[in-house]
Amino acid sequence: MRVITQYRYGGPEVLTVVDAPVPRPLPTEVLVRVKAIGLNPLEARLRAGEFPLLGKPPFILGWDISGVVDEAPQSWRWRPGDEVFGMPLFPRTANGYAEVVSAPALHLARKPASLSHLEAAALPVVGLTAWQGLADIAGVSAGDRVLVHGGGGGVGHVAIQIAKALGAQVIATASGSKRDFVEGLGTDEVIDYTRVDFAEVVRDVDVVLDTLGGDSVERSLGVLRPGGHLVTAVAEEDSALAAKFEAAGLRFSGIAVDPDPVALRGLVELVEQGKLRVHVQETFPFERVADAHRLLDGGHLQGKLVLTV
Ligand SMILES: NC(=O)c1ccc[n+]([C@@H]2O[C@H](COP(=O)([O-])OP(=O)(O)OC[C@H]3O[C@@H](n4cnc5c(N)ncnc54)[C@H](OP(=O)(O)O)[C@@H]3O)[C@@H](O)[C@H]2O)c1
Repeated sequence: MRVITQYRYGGPEVLTVVDAPVPRPLPTEVLVRVKAIGLNPLEARLRAGEFPLLGKPPFILGWDISGVVDEAPQSWRWRPGDEVFGMPLFPRTANGYAEVVSAPALHLARKPASLSHLEAAALPVVGLTAWQGLADIAGVSAGDRVLVHGGGGGVGHVAIQIAKALGAQVIATASGSKRDFVEGLGTDEVIDYTRVDFAEVVRDVDVVLDTLGGDSVERSLGVLRPGGHLVTAVAEEDSALAAKFEAAGLRFSGIAVDPDPVALRGLVELVEQGKLRVHVQETFPFERVADAHRLLDGGHLQGKLVLTV
């Protein structure tokens, strides 16, 4: 089989397609013949060596996969031919940039028939992050006012739909070019951050979901109602920020997304109810991974980038 690896940290050009042996599944694992691989900004940072989550190269990036079970030697959960998707093992190495992945059976869910493999591969990391932030951590419920920062991005565009499905009123920040896209997801109010300062116009929010970090977090202090909750996917380890929120009578939580199978099935249900869809901005063949990473490096994505296998 082919995998994408790298022998040093660096730009997209360090990503290299090579042959590798097909992995052997452990008793709790199944072999998945991968059809599509979702890309995430974290992978660009790991590729560049910004932090050593996977240790030193060589390593194989990637978690978001959708494909077909090829072998399930000891698993009662899946049979060969089942179409599955998931984010196995995150944040440990999952070797997801590969034609075949050995994944814990528990970390996979049945691919909804209404999603292509491309769309299913785009969903797990962003879907689980948004679900865990909004439903599990913040406990968003009907009537809550929710502000989603970065509403046009991978996490943001899914978070808007999950917040709507939970019955919330949703405000989202995004650049003006994404206004129609973000409105089309059901957003009640879109704030073009290139023209309007959200901190000036938003008030009485119950939950802020932050996908940006930087000063967006601290500047969100003033938009929350007393007792409101900021949940961040980016500044999760900033204890000084957490202390500021707590001193102001607000709650502050970080998300460390994990491959919770209950949440993954929750996402499947929302898809099957027609309440959640995934937007794939662009797809790239497996061997053009460096081009995909160039786009990833540029930021300003609308939805997701996906590799086809
Ligand atoms: N902690 C965790 O477990 C976890 C899990 C998943 C992701 N993350 C992190 O969460 C972050 C977001 O991930 P993602 O996949 O959603 O990234 P993404 O797809 O790149 O989306 C980011 C979005 O933010 C928009 N944006 C940039 N500056 C903005 C601003 N000032 N105001 C409003 N929107 C702005 C960008 O486009 P425009 O500028 O054109 O609007 C883009 O649409 C990444 O840092 C990722 O590593 C963390």
